Amino acid sequence: MKTIIEPFRIKMTEALPITTRSEREALLASAFNNVFLLDADHVTIDLLTDSGTGAMSDRQWAALMLGDESYAGSRSWRRFERTVREITGFKRIFPTHQGRAAERILAATRLQKGNVVPNNGHFDTTRANIEYVGAIATDLPSSEARELHSEKLFKGNMDLGKLEQLIEAEGSANIPFCMLTVTNNTGGGQPVSMENVRSVKEILQKHNIPLIIDACRFAENAFFIKEREQGFADRTLLEIAREMFSFADGATMSAKKDGLANIGGFLACNNDSWADDFRNLLILTEGFPTYGGLAGRDLEAISVGLLEALHYDYQRYRHATVEYVASALISRDIPIVRPAGGHAIFIDAAAFCPHLRASDYPGIGLVNALYLEGGVRAVELGSVMFGKPAPGGGEEIAAPHELVRLAFPRRVYTQSHFDYLIEVLDAIGRRRESIEAYRITEQAPFLRHFTAHYERAG
Ligand code: F0G
Repeated sequence: MKTIIEPFRIKMTEALPITTRSEREALLASAFNNVFLLDADHVTIDLLTDSGTGAMSDRQWAALMLGDESYAGSRSWRRFERTVREITGFKRIFPTHQGRAAERILAATRLQKGNVVPNNGHFDTTRANIEYVGAIATDLPSSEARELHSEKLFKGNMDLGKLEQLIEAEGSANIPFCMLTVTNNTGGGQPVSMENVRSVKEILQKHNIPLIIDACRFAENAFFIKEREQGFADRTLLEIAREMFSFADGATMSAKKDGLANIGGFLACNNDSWADDFRNLLILTEGFPTYGGLAGRDLEAISVGLLEALHYDYQRYRHATVEYVASALISRDIPIVRPAGGHAIFIDAAAFCPHLRASDYPGIGLVNALYLEGGVRAVELGSVMFGKPAPGGGEEIAAPHELVRLAFPRRVYTQSHFDYLIEVLDAIGRRRESIEAYRITEQAPFLRHFTAHYERAG
């Protein structure tokens, strides 16, 4: 069969709020034109993030009932440890309440002021945790990542030449570890090839620098390797994931993505002395090492979810969904980052709204148009999120791209929801010149996108 169906049927439903345009006008105005400040009850299709927003399977819900809530050494912990080890092979494993808790423990125990951490693309919490301890987070994306519309297959790769230059310039002693984010979220959800993971490891090994994988979307990355990289077509996603992790010395993970859970994460490594430091800080900030800030039932749900994320039929359906929307947008002349990412589609708002300058925040104009048109919530990744104040005051420095992310929650929306999304974007696309400019009227000193207030500039 050519049609790739959702490989599940629905056993429980959750009503979607349906609002009118005039209601949405009023709701957005009272949220100061910032969709982060809307109540979720007023959003029809919520594509703000794929993190913690997925639907659990019947097997995960059943597993919740098996949760062992013992403080120390619970059965659920043993199952969690076994599963994470089965997939990653790591010797020492620590549950955390989400990905950034793992990042914080890694950064606080391994980094000192002035150290440098290379990554193909730091996620913002990873960067913030590194910078919080005074170290420097350096992105080394491949040059292909900059070509938004080219169809290259592994645009998430790290630039190997730049990695070598950085090690040369800094000296290996100043680089306590290097990270690879699979898939590269900030680079458009683009995958990293096995070849790139292997080559990064080869370079690092020469200099005794450990490799840490940011594994949030490891199963989606494994799917891309199977589909796109020579020599992997006959391998299972589990085998591919294992090979990927075999090149790493440790991993940080948010189980809110490819753990198919609503909360959770882990930190893992092979080095016992690192692990002892992790454990001590974990006890201080997260909890005893066998639960790490999670309930026993969460550990159960994650154990099931991590393996479900590696089901080929699930990944094939997920990818088909993203591609379905992507090709519908391309045929409507809506500019998106190509190829579509594993978990999201990124619309190029600057190309979509040529009548707006970066300082008009075209991403905010498009995000707000999506809400007003159809109650769809998306997120701006442009000059509001990444713009920087100019050193001497005056007009701020724009972000390199003005993108809007449509993230796909896992197993939540059906094809008709996506047909609706396409219709909403089609309607906006037909009168794109009416997308409005916004200006900021109130903002926080950092991470301003979460709480900023906007007004229409026109
Ligand atoms: N690393 C990557 C690549 C991520 O995308 C995220 C979260 C984290 C780490 C942090 O994990 O949220 O569990 O603490 N990304 C979400 C997003 C928030 O919307 O892309 P967390």
